[in-house]
Amino acid sequence: MDILTQYAYIVSAGLFIYGLKQLSSPATARRGNAISSLGMLIAIVATLVGQDIVDFQWIAIGIVIGGIIGGTAARMVQMTKMPEMVALFNGFGGMASLLVGWAAFAFRPDVGTFTLVTIILSILIGGVTFTGSMIAYGKLSERISSAALIFSGQQVVNSLIVLGIVGSSVMFCLEPSGGGWLFWVIGLSLLFGIMVVIPIGGADMPVVISLLNSYSGLAACAAGFAVDNNILIVAGALVGASGIILTQVMCKAMNRSLTNVLFSGFGSGKVETSKVEGEIKPIIAEDAFYILEAASTVAIVPGYGMAVAQAQHVVKELAELLEKNGAEVSFGIHPVAGRMPGHMNVLLAEADVPYDQLLEMDEINPRMENVDVAIVIGANDVVNPAARENESSPIYGMPVINVDHARTVFVLKRSMASGFAGIENPLFYKENTRMLFGDAKESIAGLVREFS
Ligand code: TAP
Repeated sequence: MDILTQYAYIVSAGLFIYGLKQLSSPATARRGNAISSLGMLIAIVATLVGQDIVDFQWIAIGIVIGGIIGGTAARMVQMTKMPEMVALFNGFGGMASLLVGWAAFAFRPDVGTFTLVTIILSILIGGVTFTGSMIAYGKLSERISSAALIFSGQQVVNSLIVLGIVGSSVMFCLEPSGGGWLFWVIGLSLLFGIMVVIPIGGADMPVVISLLNSYSGLAACAAGFAVDNNILIVAGALVGASGIILTQVMCKAMNRSLTNVLFSGFGSGKVETSKVEGEIKPIIAEDAFYILEAASTVAIVPGYGMAVAQAQHVVKELAELLEKNGAEVSFGIHPVAGRMPGHMNVLLAEADVPYDQLLEMDEINPRMENVDVAIVIGANDVVNPAARENESSPIYGMPVINVDHARTVFVLKRSMASGFAGIENPLFYKENTRMLFGDAKESIAGLVREFS
């Protein structure tokens, strides 16, 4: 039976890896998700059949309750709230690893030093992931202030907590009986999770969530060692590795190092010194239509506002009308547009925009000078030329989509309000920019009406 279980684990691991590979393209992502889920089902069934863990009925009840909660949450969550849900799920993953680590000791206290170390790791990383994710969730959902909370002596407090964790871990390995030291590790890990996330501002939460996702994988991997389960080790390692790669990709797209995200607060120390000058030039849909009708190349650059307005379907309609009118249409996708990785890809895929029309920032930027009209839909920071031009800008150095290089730029947003980074955007004042004010869905619908 054990051999069969191990074979089933190998099949599961293969499905996880293949599923992950499929997730790297929007065209295959759904299938990838289904394939990985199948791998997880096989892993769970094999674990249950192969080992006499707890009464089967309890596990069945757990699966049903968990499945209902997870399925309902995933169905009901709005696309714009997805990062918050991911934060919660990461947190619960961390808590699960903490509990598995603790139970591994509670039910088998006479294990060797290696297992004790893996128990500590699953509790430590799981605990940090749990409370860190809860704080990240609170900040993103604005249930708690999203501002970076920094106080004097913070580093001293954090160092003391780390010392406490190391000390109680060593004591636990030396004196495991009774498990008293383990409760110190649990308490201090939970506290440390809070302490590492509170000094990070809300603007950086998506990166933190991706990092915590990686931690939840590492915690599961350690729990796998603690209970001697190969598939948990493999699955945890895959989540840990993919989470850290995603974190890197996001940091690179914001031109920031992970250390900068974790330890310096968004744009801290940098205050915009220059005031944006110029005049804004509003435009109405009727006039925008005449310019669009004459355009032969159009680049659409969506951002968070397209997600808020749920404008993706009507955007696709506009793109089709423009193409019918003879224009070449492409979509410029910034890696951190919106509020989660792949946010724009997901929305445009939902509206059936062909994948070959989606161009990444590095592909569309060199073409921008030949674009007649760039339509910016609810994007702000990711098209802010201050990132290129203004050394005092908090986002200076962040790669952006150079829509201002197009002949004409339409910016669709409701007001002159700033974006996520909370800074002014000189694009709105440029000579070739026209502001089409209003909800993005209504503004695009207005353009569609003009065309048809
Ligand atoms: P933002 O800079 O946040 O700008 C979004 C704009 O959409 C706002 O200025 C808002 O202006 C407008 N808007 C909101 N609702 C709208 C509606 N219904 N209709 C029309 N416009 C609407 O978005 P972005 O350009 O996509 O940049 C993303 C930001 O998030 C970046 O700063 C990025 O670093 C940060 N971030 C993203 C990620 C990921 S993974 N995506 C991760 C970390 C950080 P009005 O209120 O005037 O309408």
